[in-house]
Amino acid sequence: MEADARKAAGMIRDAGSVLVVSHIDADGITAGSIAATTLARLGKPYRIRFEKKMSEDTVSMINGAPEDLVWICDLGSGYLSDFSRPGIVVTDHHVPDPRWRRKQTVLDDFEDVCHVNPHVYGMDGSREVCGAGMTYVVSKAVDPANADLCYLAIVGACGDFQDSDESRLVGYNRVILAEAEGLGLVLSEEDVRLFGRETRNLVQFLQYSGDPVLPGLTENGAGCADFLAGLGISLGDGGRRRSWCDLDDEERERATSALLELAGTPEAARRLFGEVYSVTMHRKGSGLRDAKEFATLLNSCGRYDDAETGMRICMGDPSALRDAKRNRAEHRRNISYALSYVKDRRLIRERRFIQYFDSGDEIRETVVGIVAGMMLNSDSARRDLPMLAFADADDGTKVSVRADRSLIERGLNLSSVMSTAAGLVGGYGGGHNVAAGATIPPDRKEEFLDIVEDIISSQLI
Ligand code: C5P
Ligand code: ZN
Repeated sequence: MEADARKAAGMIRDAGSVLVVSHIDADGITAGSIAATTLARLGKPYRIRFEKKMSEDTVSMINGAPEDLVWICDLGSGYLSDFSRPGIVVTDHHVPDPRWRRKQTVLDDFEDVCHVNPHVYGMDGSREVCGAGMTYVVSKAVDPANADLCYLAIVGACGDFQDSDESRLVGYNRVILAEAEGLGLVLSEEDVRLFGRETRNLVQFLQYSGDPVLPGLTENGAGCADFLAGLGISLGDGGRRRSWCDLDDEERERATSALLELAGTPEAARRLFGEVYSVTMHRKGSGLRDAKEFATLLNSCGRYDDAETGMRICMGDPSALRDAKRNRAEHRRNISYALSYVKDRRLIRERRFIQYFDSGDEIRETVVGIVAGMMLNSDSARRDLPMLAFADADDGTKVSVRADRSLIERGLNLSSVMSTAAGLVGGYGGGHNVAAGATIPPDRKEEFLDIVEDIISSQLI
């Protein structure tokens, strides 16, 4: 990895101009911000573009870009054999394109790509390091002084749920975390891992928990208020409503023990309690202090055609926060509408090896994957079947699919399911073993589902 990072760093230093292409999600925005800061510090002329996915149009844009070098972050690994220009650095963690072999290819005009991806070094890109992490490794190879960007890699990893399975970051992410803690940029603590430690009031914090489901509290605001009153924890402080981060140590301990008891099973307790990460440069309650909330704020920008606002935040522009918060309010409304839409209309259909819903044009293609993940973890769906979702998109039907990690242990790889099945119906796709996506022709959904089921049944042992 270090040798590849040094090679990439050399190409970046030698280039007269660079185009950065990055993904619109939190990991992509942090990755793009690391790349942009690296180039700005070198005094290199650069442009940055954020993309929803690596479509045919994106590939031709990259192949035809006038810059000396294209640096592709958190995207690109699944489509390596489509690139046909010199000067490409890919810092990504998606499952690599199986058709691509370094310096040997079926395409005559193929040029070598400098590919920095954890899968190549025997690491699991879905858990051990993210696109921002790989971009950070290259950034540090360009100049060790870029180590101060490491906290963005931690935000990116949390944005890609890399801390979910073990309730803490694992693998190479821990190396980056140790650096970030050493520099005083990130603080890790053991705490309740529900979403919204900083910005949700105490009742909402418990009420919208969702995963794990807390009997009597989840989706029950009055129950949450009673629970907190029973523990002698006041909801307000003067006129202000308190958040979880406002509790003193003694209150937090009392509430944590009661929540762990309520969680019931050891598995639920393990999901409820673990490591949480704070970005120390941002003040309490700012929406940027908790790494997960920071990532959600970035997602609220990128998934609504405003990744640039997210990048301004990562690059230290405080004026971007107001715009980002407006985006976040819209994102919250959309997610809450989408979840009720799927639940209230009972849209989920079960087949033998998959469950799925078709949201038509009711859910944006850029957030349908988040909704599929939340449905999978809710009590309205089964956990032992992958959750697939369709959404109408301008260029076809968008597919998103998510699975519980226990299925990965049985052989499931959603990335290859999506690339193979989409390819067979005239679409394209890829991603990670636990989370993947595709775009397919709208009139081939049924056929696509049949193929997806065939492949899943052959993968599972
Ligand atoms: O869009 P969604 O959130 O469902 O994507 C899940 C994962 O699959 C993402 O990491 C995304 O980059 C990847 N993906 C892909 N090719 C596609 C669609 C999604 O590699 N056509
Ligand atoms: Zn990513």
